[in-house]
Amino acid sequence: MIQARFGLKCLPFDKSIATDDLYRWPGLEELTVRLEMAKSARGIMLLTGEPGTGKTVAIRRFVDSLSSEHYVCCYLPLATVTILDAYGQLNRALGGVDARSKSQMFEQIQRGVAELTNQGKQPVIIFDEADLLKSAMFDELRILLNFEMDSKDPLLLILVGQPQLLAKLALRIHLPFRQRVAMRYRMPPMDEEQTRGYVDHHLKLAGRRQKLFTDEAMMQLFVQSGGVPRVVGSLALTAMTEAALGGKDLVGLEEVIAASREVV
Ligand SMILES: Nc1ncnc2c1ncn2[C@@H]1O[C@H](COP(=O)(O)OP(=O)(O)OP(=O)(O)O)[C@@H](O)[C@H]1O
Ligand SMILES: [Mg+2]
Repeated sequence: MIQARFGLKCLPFDKSIATDDLYRWPGLEELTVRLEMAKSARGIMLLTGEPGTGKTVAIRRFVDSLSSEHYVCCYLPLATVTILDAYGQLNRALGGVDARSKSQMFEQIQRGVAELTNQGKQPVIIFDEADLLKSAMFDELRILLNFEMDSKDPLLLILVGQPQLLAKLALRIHLPFRQRVAMRYRMPPMDEEQTRGYVDHHLKLAGRRQKLFTDEAMMQLFVQSGGVPRVVGSLALTAMTEAALGGKDLVGLEEVIAASREVV
């Protein structure tokens, strides 16, 4: 209904957006620069941000940019997995054969990393939703990443998560892990102008070039969403549905306020 009403070729704010189509706002550009720096420096990077700020899509874009000739990437999306599961997945991604015991896997992972390094390939290991990692996992990772008596950083480990990740790592027991963090970035929300750009970008991808939201509606989208991309998207879609149901050609303030009662 939205599509026909507003002349769109598909629904906007699609979750499966191609990484090339992402809206390049300063928050994403700065993260990209830091990821590139971390890629060369290696070691541990922390990426935090409120839910829906675009951490996972930015990481998806970074992973897509890595050439398979020089990088081997292991992306672990569910940080609630047990230590054994995480070891198993890492081991497989690094080319190791299945092993039963933790110590065997540990050895294989370390050997796998060393072999890849010899072949001129750098492993990039990413734990998404790392705020859910169990405390013991930070120690495991620190020990696992200890190469040649801690004298080398052959890989890049990126922990992605909500701000609670930092609170968890602030505990004194995690000091040794924290001291090894070489790069940090906190994804900010978008400001008003960026939020407007974000909405226009998604609408353009869906085939709409003319204005669809009134100025007041756009301003209200920012106020109600706090500039968080996921919230902007659901508010905008709900407001568009309201407007379509009301037979309107533009989405106004009234529809955004009605949408915010449902969404936020
Ligand atoms: N730069 C962008 N361009 C286009 N869409 C974006 C952009 N950033 C975020 N989005 C959209 O916003 C939504 C939320 O993004 P994402 O899932 O990456 O957030 P997140 O920070 O990983 O959230 P969570 O903490 O809940 O995992 C997605 O649907 C995504 O497509
Ligand atoms: Mg995410």
